[in-house]
Amino acid sequence: MPAEQNRTEQKNNYINKLFYGDNLDIMEDKIPDNSIDLIYLDPPFNSNRNYNRIYSTNVGQPVPEEAIAFCDAWELTEEKEEDIKTFYDKLILDDNENFAKFWLSWTEALKYSNSKILSYLVFMALRLRVMRNKLKDTGSLFLHCDATASHYIKILLDGIFGIKNFRNEIVWCYSNSGRPKNRFASKHDIIFFYSKTNNYFWNKDFRVPYSEDYIKSHFKHIDDDGRICRKRYDAGKWRTYYPEDGMIPNDWWEDIASLNSMAKDRLGYPTQKPLKLLERIIKSVTKEDDVVLDPFCGCGTTIMAAQNLKRKWIGIDICMLSVSLIENRLKENYPLVVMKGRDYTVDGIPITIEQVEELIHKSEKSRNEGRYQFQYWAVEKVGGFASTKKSGDGGIDGSIYFYKDEKKTLAKMILSVKSNKKLQASFIRDLIGTMNNNDAEMAGLISYAKPTQEMINECKNAGRFKMKDGLFADYEFDRVQILTAEDILNGRRFDLPYTRILKKS
Ligand SMILES: C[S@@+](CC[C@H](N)C(=O)[O-])C[C@H]1O[C@@H](n2cnc3c(N)ncnc32)[C@H](O)[C@@H]1O
Repeated sequence: MPAEQNRTEQKNNYINKLFYGDNLDIMEDKIPDNSIDLIYLDPPFNSNRNYNRIYSTNVGQPVPEEAIAFCDAWELTEEKEEDIKTFYDKLILDDNENFAKFWLSWTEALKYSNSKILSYLVFMALRLRVMRNKLKDTGSLFLHCDATASHYIKILLDGIFGIKNFRNEIVWCYSNSGRPKNRFASKHDIIFFYSKTNNYFWNKDFRVPYSEDYIKSHFKHIDDDGRICRKRYDAGKWRTYYPEDGMIPNDWWEDIASLNSMAKDRLGYPTQKPLKLLERIIKSVTKEDDVVLDPFCGCGTTIMAAQNLKRKWIGIDICMLSVSLIENRLKENYPLVVMKGRDYTVDGIPITIEQVEELIHKSEKSRNEGRYQFQYWAVEKVGGFASTKKSGDGGIDGSIYFYKDEKKTLAKMILSVKSNKKLQASFIRDLIGTMNNNDAEMAGLISYAKPTQEMINECKNAGRFKMKDGLFADYEFDRVQILTAEDILNGRRFDLPYTRILKKS
């Protein structure tokens, strides 16, 4: 088969993909090297309110302000310290010795001055290196961030992509509400544009409309046909420009408004980006049928923009709510046109017990965030808020918050997830200890294996929780409860006041 025909067939058979899981694992295992035309990423950093908001909007449960979501916790753990070394080894493997040396001294200094940013940079470094490998030689990467970390990120990108492949620092200016009283208002984001090589694709025809003010002040001539134009002596000859032709965009964009809280397409993600922003990026460096990857796809703005512009797409997110949001968005915007199974697949969310086993197996194998994927899945599935506490605190994997009285006092059920093949009654005793130490009203164990009779007895002995007043005054709930993965797949949930409301309605 001629190569061109082969390529066309491959393009036609291409199925878009949504992946649930840690992007490092997924990019390494599922995405071939040199296969992507554009990567856009808007990684979380201090965007904790993101998950909290989307959680409470979509699950319908309250979350305390200070609760830190699993996908935005930056602590310099022992594992992160190991990752510093791993990244150094990878740089050596890539023959990037100069940056490797810099990396060692940089990270050593940051350990003492800013360990939070260091933890974030290690996380980003490992992923950006893999992203570079996934790009075709003609491909580009756009990284969206803000002033909190942009100065560090640019150094990282210079080191991984090479200073010579830096193309632009785009300043996206917006004007949303809220202004501080003691400094200038921060009203811009930064988007770094790097290409993989010097031979990158740039859409030479891409133009944006001139602003009205610009047209008024610059287009002062009339051509022979009576059309308004601008005549300029450019590169050795006189040229004529027309307002309707548009202009090559600047590296500062002030004509794309941020999504205000009333916007029609707002989905509840505080960090949701406007479609127009993504469309501009996609149009500038890709053609129809090119492949666009967003490894932190949130509520899927990149996916929607790529679909609108007839590009192929791949989205990855570690949060299951995000995957379901994107599926809903596709259904609403492209009914019958974009169908699951035919036009895109969802990978990584188990729906059978065999797939749960696979997820546990993958979690045990992963060296990355993916090692907690079974916990994340189980917690999210029962409507819990997946938390950051991986160790200490007796291993709280998440919490379900609910109101315990008419005054809306928050109560919580702490969750512990066990993938063990064999369970012991001591798990329940430990859980009760953790519940009491954390002032939690209730505790839930989610296990892969079936609980023993002794465990069930321990739960019964832990007593009952009673609501003070309200709809369920005098109702009683077991303080400690167990659900297996199989129960969850069959739709069972913990017995809590709000799940009884759901059942009632
Ligand atoms: C700032 S949001 C992206 C918002 C997106 N640009 C939009 O317009 O909707 C960051 C996303 O990254 C996801 N995330 C965090 N860590 C991740 C990881 N290791 N792998 C995949 N996704 C991750 C979070 O769940 C969150 O949805």
